Amino acid sequence: MLFLARGGQAIDFSKLYERTGLLSYDPGYASTAGCKSTISYIDGQKGELYYKGYPLEELVAKYKYSDVCKLLLTDALPQNADESLAFELELRHRSFIHETLHNMFAAFPTHAHPMAKLSSGVSILSTFYSDHGKMKNEEDYQTMARRIIAKMPTLAAICYRNEIGAPIIYPDVTRSYIENILFMLRGYPHGRLKQGLHGTIEINPLEVEAFDKILTLHADHEQNASATTVRNVASTGVHPYAAISAGISALWGHLHGGANEKVLLQMEEIGDVKNVDKYIARVKDKNDSFKLMGFGHRVYKSYDPRARILKQIKDNLQTKGIKMNPRLDEIAAKVEEVALKDEYFIARNLYPNVDFYSGTILTALKIPTRFFTPVFVIGRTVGWCAQLLEHVKNTQARITRPRQVYVGK
Ligand code: CMC
Repeated sequence: MLFLARGGQAIDFSKLYERTGLLSYDPGYASTAGCKSTISYIDGQKGELYYKGYPLEELVAKYKYSDVCKLLLTDALPQNADESLAFELELRHRSFIHETLHNMFAAFPTHAHPMAKLSSGVSILSTFYSDHGKMKNEEDYQTMARRIIAKMPTLAAICYRNEIGAPIIYPDVTRSYIENILFMLRGYPHGRLKQGLHGTIEINPLEVEAFDKILTLHADHEQNASATTVRNVASTGVHPYAAISAGISALWGHLHGGANEKVLLQMEEIGDVKNVDKYIARVKDKNDSFKLMGFGHRVYKSYDPRARILKQIKDNLQTKGIKMNPRLDEIAAKVEEVALKDEYFIARNLYPNVDFYSGTILTALKIPTRFFTPVFVIGRTVGWCAQLLEHVKNTQARITRPRQVYVGK
């Protein structure tokens, strides 16, 4: 028996087969802990999330996303403003990608999904930094991680601008890490225009603050499908960016990070508050495969704390004059209201998850729907790095090699 943090317990099955010839059978791994970890902790019953022991609410309220990155990578928050700035400046300075890499994006068809392009881009990045395939010490680990965290927004922005045929905007190191992400998406080359065709181009500090918090909310989430993918791929000894590229592919799925895009598309499909009841009825119809996107979670059996904080961010933005799309906002509120009172959802502990409200806010921040999951990638890259490093630093870690219950001929 292993005794875990906060009163949890686990049975150590690792020698079960060797000693008894029996396997444990757990499809979907709902009862399986694949590793010991110190990175994040979820209390699914209470709806709590901690990074390195800090409650998520405290980190979102008091620290910048880049501070949280430092915490996840080094076990310590910056001790003062200078330390905080030094870490962030390192990310800003590492944000450029090799010029040759730009050419690669020209090869994709115009409507290629940005997640496919991003995953490919990160895989190709491994060829520019082949040394990270043989990391030897803490300095190597940190360089690998900071490099990919710094470059992910640049790659993601290129994917977007390439899709719409707009000229690529290079990172601007005079802007903060977060402001620069919005700038690379919205900016005009050579310009510091304040007004554009569709209103103001200048980036509002409220938008920067909200985007920063959104990334913190996505920074890590223990052994979810993409983190597990990153660990599994890394367990073979492959280049870390190949493992992260695989994590991006895992995140793309609509049951995982891809849900944020699907939530918005589903709201559009519902179209009007008067249709909400009809769609809730479809969820409950056993002959209909319709699921409510942005609802439910394997671990949370109460309100996802990230969704709760997102609602506060949304309310705060609205109070300060940044408007949500009123129709989509109204539909989302109605869906939540109806679902939370419905016996089907109550009996199954189905609550809004992080993906339910993030799209509404990202739309208000002028992020296109197809770019929602890449935003999740940008926030989660630090978590993948932390998970990967925890795995590769563990000298006892083994290649992931589960067994099967053979039922064939
Ligand atoms: N809408 C309708 N019914 C649902 C939903 C939903 N969103 N989620 C779960 N259920 C039902 C499910 O049909 C099952 O019912 P029954 O007991 O009658 O068979 C029951 O609730 C248990 O669900 P499950 O599929 O066994 O749960 P799971 O832990 O295997 O899956 C999930 C978790 C997140 C994949 C699932 O809740 C889901 O598909 N949600 C919608 C997609 C989504 O929002 N994903 C984002 C997850 S949070 C962010 C992230 O990790 O990326």
